[in-house]
Amino acid sequence: MRALAGPLPDAEPVLILGGGLVGLAIAHQLARLGRSTTVLSRRRSEAAGFVAAGMLAPHAEGLSGPMLALGQASLERIPAWVARIEADSGLACGLRPCGIVVPFTTAAEREAYPTAAFGEPLDRAGLERQVPGIGPAWRAGLLFAQDGQIDNRRRLMRALERACAALGVRFEEGTEVLELLTGDSGRLRGVRLRRAEGGEHMIAATTAVLACGAWSGRLLPSLPVHPVKGQMLSLQGPRASLERVVFGPGTYLVPREDGLLVVGATSEPQAGFDDGLTPEGQKQLQQGLVALLPEAALWPPMERWWGFRPGTPDNMPLLGPGPIEGLWLATGHHRNGVLLAAITAELIADAITAAGQGSWASPERLAPFRWDRPQPAAPGAHTPPGARASL
Ligand code: GLY
Repeated sequence: MRALAGPLPDAEPVLILGGGLVGLAIAHQLARLGRSTTVLSRRRSEAAGFVAAGMLAPHAEGLSGPMLALGQASLERIPAWVARIEADSGLACGLRPCGIVVPFTTAAEREAYPTAAFGEPLDRAGLERQVPGIGPAWRAGLLFAQDGQIDNRRRLMRALERACAALGVRFEEGTEVLELLTGDSGRLRGVRLRRAEGGEHMIAATTAVLACGAWSGRLLPSLPVHPVKGQMLSLQGPRASLERVVFGPGTYLVPREDGLLVVGATSEPQAGFDDGLTPEGQKQLQQGLVALLPEAALWPPMERWWGFRPGTPDNMPLLGPGPIEGLWLATGHHRNGVLLAAITAELIADAITAAGQGSWASPERLAPFRWDRPQPAAPGAHTPPGARASL
């Protein structure tokens, strides 16, 4: 499909609430389908797209059931999705289909991993070949050659923003959406918002997408979305010292092309929206790093940061129609927002433009992602395999 040069002049703008990765991906796809689109965002720098390590890891994360199917469908789409963003923006996104190694201390643990059937089993010698310098505790592993990574923080977010702008998407940064407004029929009729320069305003809209990440429940408290804080750090390693992503328990290592090593991540649902780094969180990452790749402990430190994943009680996103007619949901992607951005953009843009013939979505496939599905009692009650405890 060829991208249109800009939105159709007579099309009603779709409001995208949230300027993070998911919001931008949807805006880009809508713009490509010729829909006029405006992105409202309060503070884009807080978006999880600028925090995440950028793993594309449906198998390494040990997903199962509908989440695995959704993740695999998105992974399949990523090369073409990235190529469209690169063509529209003129910028590289840093996609690396480098494979991911998941190490274990025993072969029994490896056999029990939910996605073991999709990986190549490794013994200690195989682990050493895939991850030179791996710590001595790891005796077995799985290589998921089909998984990979993208340089979301430094490249993808910027490229996507530029691609959107090139296709005529409007941005309002520093704009906080305070309330969704409905008419007598219960249908969406607009939003009330506060702009950076102050003062409250109403904007009319009959179609909007809620993509506010961890903050989604603040705008619509009926949504089961809560923040799951993650702390990260990075080190500068020698170029090409590590080719594969290494996905250990409690800590993972994501090597960028230029040798930068991104180390993630804590998972702290109890922290709510508490800002800042903590000694415990940074210690967890440091210990995990040393256990996975002892020599990296000597590499020069670069950055430390934190952010908030949009968690749901069952760790699956909320996708599709929302509780208000005209409002679409694209939130709750928890640990998999970068992976799921491509399929989310396709599903939501197809649904809004009714262009979905032949698309992946069907009512049966989308049912597990409805916002009002039954959820486990306590938020975060279910621990995904990717959040398994540290060694
Ligand atoms: N995708 C890994 C994480 O959320 O930490």
